[in-house]
Amino acid sequence: MKKSMQELISKNKAKLSRKVSQIDEAELAELLKEIGSYNIEHIPIDEIKKGLNTEYIGREIYSYHEVESTNNVAKFLARFGPFEGTIVISEIQTKGKGRGGKKWESPKGGIWLSIILKPEIDHLKAPLLTLATGIAIAKTIRRMNIDAKIKWPNDILINNKKVCGILTEASSKQNTFDYIIVGVGIDSNLNINNLEETLRKITTSLSNETQEEIKEPKIIANFLNEFEKIYNSFKEENFDEILNEWRRMSDTIGSYVKIKQAHIKVIEGLAVGINNQGELILKLDNGELKTILSGECSLKKH
Ligand code: BTN
Repeated sequence: MKKSMQELISKNKAKLSRKVSQIDEAELAELLKEIGSYNIEHIPIDEIKKGLNTEYIGREIYSYHEVESTNNVAKFLARFGPFEGTIVISEIQTKGKGRGGKKWESPKGGIWLSIILKPEIDHLKAPLLTLATGIAIAKTIRRMNIDAKIKWPNDILINNKKVCGILTEASSKQNTFDYIIVGVGIDSNLNINNLEETLRKITTSLSNETQEEIKEPKIIANFLNEFEKIYNSFKEENFDEILNEWRRMSDTIGSYVKIKQAHIKVIEGLAVGINNQGELILKLDNGELKTILSGECSLKKH
């Protein structure tokens, strides 16, 4: 029977505390099999690799049929060693995670993917990595002649409907990172009519927009190619380049928005910019400027 990630972690505590060089490859492969139905290759690794022109992003790919959450599998793997650029994908997630502790519906028909990263960079810069990921996705979709836009902080929209979300999870020590997991959920071939009504109104998929079946390996490879370029910029600390590109692709700046934050009342105002940390700058109705670190943003007609 398949074990939960938590059970696996506690069962394998001793192995996990060893360095990757000391772990037998067969032992690791066995663990990976236990995590989910590994390598049945519903999303074929070879086809993704054919489209890759990266140096290290996606050079190692774990392709599952079903896992609880690719972010959790990626976190599990990240404990074993370097793995920078390793990808975990799954056809189905049974406990897909969205931002703010929400569930992320992950049936067949989507790209559910996580990237393991180990940047040597100040932990305060993590929000910029989420923005950078959004740029890479928006660029990938624009290459399909679809006008994708980014909504702060991390939703990719087509005609105001969400097609992709990003969940970045990090483990930091002092001011740097042990690892960062960038989780990306793209509605590729999702049949929107199968979604519950509230979601249907605000969601789209790539196939819904193009009226064609989407070739997932190609989209994944294009995304990883874009991602490596912008991730290298991030590591080189070219933050202005990332922020400017984000501003150009965003539909948030210049819009009147409503921000919902946990335990804090809703804030409304005109989004006038983002600062160097990726925080949204709002101009409130009384003229005051307010920076917002996180929250759920919706565009509002004023
Ligand atoms: C959001 O709420 O917009 C973020 C959604 C992120 C979903 C992706 S799917 C792959 C990865 N694994 C998860 O459990 N979540 C992320």
